[in-house]
Amino acid sequence: MIEPSSINEVLARADIVEIIGQAVRLKKRGSNYVANCPFHNEKTPSFSVSASKGLYKCFGCGRGGNVVSFVQEYEKLSFAESIHWLADFYKIEIEETERSPEQLQSVQTEESLRILNEDATKFFQETLLNSEEGQTIGLSYFKQRGIRTETIEHFRLGYDPEEGSSFFNAARTKGYQAEILIKSGLVKERDGRFLDNYRGRIIFPIQSNTGRVLGFGARILKSNDRAPKYINTPENELYVKSRVLYGLYQARQSIAKLDECLLVEGYLDVISLHQAGITNAVASSGTSLTEDQLRAIGHLTKNLTILYDADAAGIKAALRGMDMGLSQGFHVYLALLPGGEDPDSFVQKNGRSAFEEFIKTHKQDFIGFRLELGLKEVGNDPVKKAKLVNEIAESIAHINKAEDFTLRQHYTHQASVALAIDEAGMITLVNKYLQDQLEAKAKIRRSTTQEPESEPQNTENPATEQAKSPAATNDERQEWALLKVLIESGHLAYSETESVAALLHNRVDPALIKTALAREMFDLYFAEIGIAKADADPKRAQAFFIHHPNQDIRQKTASLLHSGQEVSANWKKMFGIGTMTEREEIDIRPESKLKAEMFGLAPTDSTVAYISETNSTLSYFEIKKLRNMQDLLREQLKQEADADRIGKLFSLYKQLKKEEQTILETSKTVIFKS
Ligand code: GTP
Ligand code: MN
Repeated sequence: MIEPSSINEVLARADIVEIIGQAVRLKKRGSNYVANCPFHNEKTPSFSVSASKGLYKCFGCGRGGNVVSFVQEYEKLSFAESIHWLADFYKIEIEETERSPEQLQSVQTEESLRILNEDATKFFQETLLNSEEGQTIGLSYFKQRGIRTETIEHFRLGYDPEEGSSFFNAARTKGYQAEILIKSGLVKERDGRFLDNYRGRIIFPIQSNTGRVLGFGARILKSNDRAPKYINTPENELYVKSRVLYGLYQARQSIAKLDECLLVEGYLDVISLHQAGITNAVASSGTSLTEDQLRAIGHLTKNLTILYDADAAGIKAALRGMDMGLSQGFHVYLALLPGGEDPDSFVQKNGRSAFEEFIKTHKQDFIGFRLELGLKEVGNDPVKKAKLVNEIAESIAHINKAEDFTLRQHYTHQASVALAIDEAGMITLVNKYLQDQLEAKAKIRRSTTQEPESEPQNTENPATEQAKSPAATNDERQEWALLKVLIESGHLAYSETESVAALLHNRVDPALIKTALAREMFDLYFAEIGIAKADADPKRAQAFFIHHPNQDIRQKTASLLHSGQEVSANWKKMFGIGTMTEREEIDIRPESKLKAEMFGLAPTDSTVAYISETNSTLSYFEIKKLRNMQDLLREQLKQEADADRIGKLFSLYKQLKKEEQTILETSKTVIFKS
């Protein structure tokens, strides 16, 4: 975990104008900067950066935050990764907490490997582009494969000379010890001699999603029966094969923008596709996709299209692995290229638009593909058919996220038609597998958290999951919205005398927070952070929760800080006052300013966002409170016989109703355009 002091150092050094200026062209306007928003398409700038406040905000799409959230959003990184990204940018050493001597050793090795890999990459690039051997052998091979120089540079491709120890000698001159060189896989020892492991090969550096070189793939140039076609970096402190995806660094923005990831098999498939302008392709480098790799893609998109050549041996195995994708909420598609073609050869031969057209017309959803493939094999064999029915049902059951319920229904229907079986029977079967999987999951969770078997909490029973009313989910979202406002903006001024935290502390009844973790964090905030306005250390709350010993708290905080969700968007729906359109969202500004003025605040741009978020969250809890009181009164009214008291209770009830109405109305006119 990153030390809070390191986070603070990064935050202190990071200049929001400099960082955002790398991504968009900023124009100075008054004390702020404006630009066309990098997160949505627009012709007139509604994206504003305030250097003094360290914040950005787009009044078109509503995105906003500080320099870290910008890096998170723009570079598609987690909070911790963004801190590392910024630290790299400003050459700040990051310190991480609580490490045992072994961990420390491992971190040092990791760091050495990182530096070594960077040096090696430069050596191989230099050799490819500037040495005679590199040009005549390596470069001419790339040219022959149709790879252009800018592509070579974009992927940092290289070449290692045939002579036994060119890289080793260069590395020794630089002072690297043999031990680390061997660990990196760049060098091997044979008969007391040190040899370059990748000699005579072209080199594909494998980069992390922040661009660090973690390892290499090295391809042989001549066909040779005895030597493997590719040599890859062995697993070490830095290179963990199951976590990396080749090309993700170059592809991640485009994956997010297009909301689709193409998965191919080889390094050269990725490279050729990118060169042709299809920049959302990654490769899992010869293995089936792992859970970590899926998760990395899942941050960017939930649409995954797998491109295989039609006679790929691994198709069936890969398909089985895709159940994992379904569990993670992916929509998995598959397209088979014509026999003998891989994405590289296809796109080089036919070009970008033919490739895109082919994918569009040949892409099949995953379950449909499995059905088709399975039915071909089954023929008239009832035993095989029973087996297929079960396999498909089990796959469908992996679609177990509540929000994907309709997708599961869709596939269940599709499967029952294709397999010519009764739909109700298929539903029962899918539900049985669903139940099995959920029980298995609950068991794992229990054994890891050591909860007693009998405790039913946390088992995601599908029945209760579906029975949950949308209102319940909305409640929960509002509670998290409250925490988000508190953690992000609690220290800011709500009025001249009161911080946002103080206001929320005084006005929100903690008993209304039903989600246990949210309640715990709410209480923790006031116990640990307090209600003072804090200009000195504005990120204290964020750092406190991001580094909290409880993992659930850390994770929740990260996802709260990560989410750009507008606080106001949900409760409005819940109380039945229509849905906010993007247009309305733009129009709220003057009114929000008005409200800011009502509360005695200067209506500057940055106050608008967090003040209106605070107001919105607060309104929600006030209405909740009023409605609870109304319920209570109604109960009392039912039981009351005394006419006098009934009259009093009733006028109280009416008063509460009126207050509720006022809040709804002011919210409607102030925060939402009616
Ligand atoms: P070309 O054949 O030059 O087009 O390269 P390619 O990258 O398309 O390779 P291919 O389709 O043969 O294989 C797909 C991927 O599997 C490669 O990119 C490698 O990641 C991996 N792979 C292939 N052959 C080997 C091998 O011999 N050893 C290892 N470790 N991986 C391999
Ligand atoms: Mn190939």
